[in-house]
Amino acid sequence: MTCFGEASMTWDYARYLAAKTTVDDRALNRPVLAELRRLMPACAPRFLEVGAGLGTMVARLMDWGAVGAGEYILLDADQQLLDGSRRWLCDWAAARGLRSDLLPDGLQLGDLRVRLVHAELGSYLEAAPAALADVLIANAVLDLVDVPAILPGLLRLLTPGGAYWLTINYDGESIFAPGHPDDDQIMHAYHRDMDERIRYGRPAGESQTGRHLFHNLRAAGAPALAAGSSDWVVSAGPDGSYPGKEAYFLRSILNTIHSALRNRPDRVEPAHLADWLEVRGRQLAAGELVYIAHQLDFAGRSPG
Ligand SMILES: C[S@@+](CC[C@H](N)C(=O)[O-])C[C@H]1O[C@@H](n2cnc3c(N)ncnc32)[C@H](O)[C@@H]1O
Repeated sequence: MTCFGEASMTWDYARYLAAKTTVDDRALNRPVLAELRRLMPACAPRFLEVGAGLGTMVARLMDWGAVGAGEYILLDADQQLLDGSRRWLCDWAAARGLRSDLLPDGLQLGDLRVRLVHAELGSYLEAAPAALADVLIANAVLDLVDVPAILPGLLRLLTPGGAYWLTINYDGESIFAPGHPDDDQIMHAYHRDMDERIRYGRPAGESQTGRHLFHNLRAAGAPALAAGSSDWVVSAGPDGSYPGKEAYFLRSILNTIHSALRNRPDRVEPAHLADWLEVRGRQLAAGELVYIAHQLDFAGRSPG
C-alpha cells in the first residue's frame, strides 16, 4: 500500500517515508536482494533510483554494505522531497560518522556521489535520456505508475547486462486485525480507487502491480531471475508500543484510505467508513492494530 498522499506532497509525506524505513527494512526480500548483489557490477556502479523520495534506500543500502562507491541518482517528481533528502541524508551520515558534503546538484556521502534529479518519470523517459545506469532501483513506486507503458523505457536506461531491483510492489491484499465487518467492502473500494487513479495526467498504478510484474517483466524482455514476497507486517510489542515511528506509519495508512474514500459515498457508506476509521484509530492508540500488506520484490537483468 505505497500509494499514500496526493500529487502535491507535503512534509507529512516526508515524515511518513521516514517512518516507513523500519517497516521496509524488515520486509525487503533477502534472497532477492542477494540475487541483486550477485548481478551488480563489483566496481563503483552507477545507480538510478526512480521515485526515490527522501533517499532512505541509498542510506539502507550503504548500511547493509551493498553500496559504497560510485554514483547514485535519486529521481523524483517531488522537488520538496528531494530538497528534504539532502538534509535527511546529511543527518543520517552524521549519526554514523560518515563524511558528507553538500554539492550544487546533490551531495557526497563518503565515496558515493549522490545526484538529485527532479523529473516526472513518464516525461523523463519520453525525453529519451542518454545516461545509462548499471543498477535500476524502484522501491514502493511501481504501483504508482502505469507499468506496461513505463517499464520498457525504464529498462532501456540500463547498460547491457545491468541489473534491476524492483521492490515493495503492492499486490492487492491488505489485512487489518482484529477483523471488522466492513473490511472487505472498504478494501475493495480502496483497490478500485488505486485502479482508476490518474496523476501527472497519466494512469497511476493498480492494486495488483506485484503479480502482474511477472508478466510485464517477461513482456519487456527482462524476466525476473528472482522474486519473493516483501510483505509489510506491523504490530505492537508486548508493551503495546509500535517499533520506531511505526504508529505514525499506521496512522498514515489509515489517512490514505480515508482520503481515497471520503468522497465516494457511492462505494462506501460514509457512516461505515467513519465507524471503521474510528475503530481502527482506537485499536492503533491501544497498540492492538495489526496491519499486513502483501507485496513482491523482483531482481533481474536488462533486456537482451
Ligand atoms: C511511496 S513513495 C516511495 C519513496 C521511496 N522510494 C521510499 O520507498 O521511501 C513514492 C515516490 O514516488 C514518487 N513518484 C510517484 N509518481 C511518480 C512519477 N510519475 N514520477 C516520478 N516520481 C514519482 C513520489 O513523489 C514519491 O516520492
